[in-house]
Amino acid sequence: MDFAGKTFWITGAASGMGRALSLEIADNQARLIISDRDLKGLQQTASEILAKGSSVRIEPLDMTDTSSIFETARKVIGDGETIYGLYQFAGISQRSLVAETPIENDRLIMEVNFFGVIALTKAVLPHMIQNGGGQLAATSSLVGKFGFPYRSAYSASKHAIHGFFESLLAENSKYQIKVSILIPGRVQTNISRFAIDKQGKEHGILDDGQANGITAGKAAKLIFSGLKQEKKEIWVGGNEMLMLHIRRFLPTLYYYMATRIKPM
Ligand SMILES: NC(=O)c1ccc[n+]([C@@H]2O[C@H](COP(=O)([O-])OP(=O)(O)OC[C@H]3O[C@@H](n4cnc5c(N)ncnc54)[C@H](OP(=O)(O)O)[C@@H]3O)[C@@H](O)[C@H]2O)c1
Repeated sequence: MDFAGKTFWITGAASGMGRALSLEIADNQARLIISDRDLKGLQQTASEILAKGSSVRIEPLDMTDTSSIFETARKVIGDGETIYGLYQFAGISQRSLVAETPIENDRLIMEVNFFGVIALTKAVLPHMIQNGGGQLAATSSLVGKFGFPYRSAYSASKHAIHGFFESLLAENSKYQIKVSILIPGRVQTNISRFAIDKQGKEHGILDDGQANGITAGKAAKLIFSGLKQEKKEIWVGGNEMLMLHIRRFLPTLYYYMATRIKPM
């Protein structure tokens, strides 16, 4: 897959991996449509994209607002944009135990990480099919493959991404729709700072996991290469990715470790 001359819509583009991938793609004379709820962050990303010689359109979006997601997609497509790739990174994490988490927090996490993602996908998919194909990328996580303490709703929202996008691929590969599910391990971003605690407040801390992870720039290079190769799953991380093999081939060891893992 060639990036040059195509249009890519990226959510979560104000920071972290969404921002870093936008800049990676901007090196390839592409057009970017960037979304996030953080307008200032989007403006910063946009100025860096322009400096790299690609063009950019800013579309602020709150992924909890379904009707504005559909309305924004109608407007973008109505303006004549031809979206080839829709790569979604917007997401929030969690730092609270099942027993102490109010159901409203679970719903909020599902709204951003799952319903928002599938709403934008549904708004863009018919347009891609009409144009002869396109590429969708949705961001899961290591904990989209197995459960993890303090991440119950987050892990569930990421598991849901797998079921939805694998089904979508099965239905739509005949229309040249490609699907990549991104599986980051630990990446140095703000995800733990903005994770919600049991009161629904920001956790506010850069956890050791993220602090010791790969940089967002390195993650973006791995993602860019995986998207170019149209990989169905793109693993993004360091040694922690070993957990995927442990969960699959040594489940007893996983269950032993999961109850003993230091959660943060
Ligand atoms: N970093 C990791 O170790 C890691 C590991 C596994 C999976 N992931 C996943 O990777 C994706 C990207 O996260 P990241 O690590 O790059 O963290 P990040 O820097 O916090 O980026 C997430 C972005 O999503 C935006 N966002 C949050 N809620 C939103 C909403 N309701 N509407 C629109 N935008 C919203 C955030 O905006 P604000 O800045 O305004 O909050 C932020 O710009 C997420 O889906 C995350 O779950 C990350």
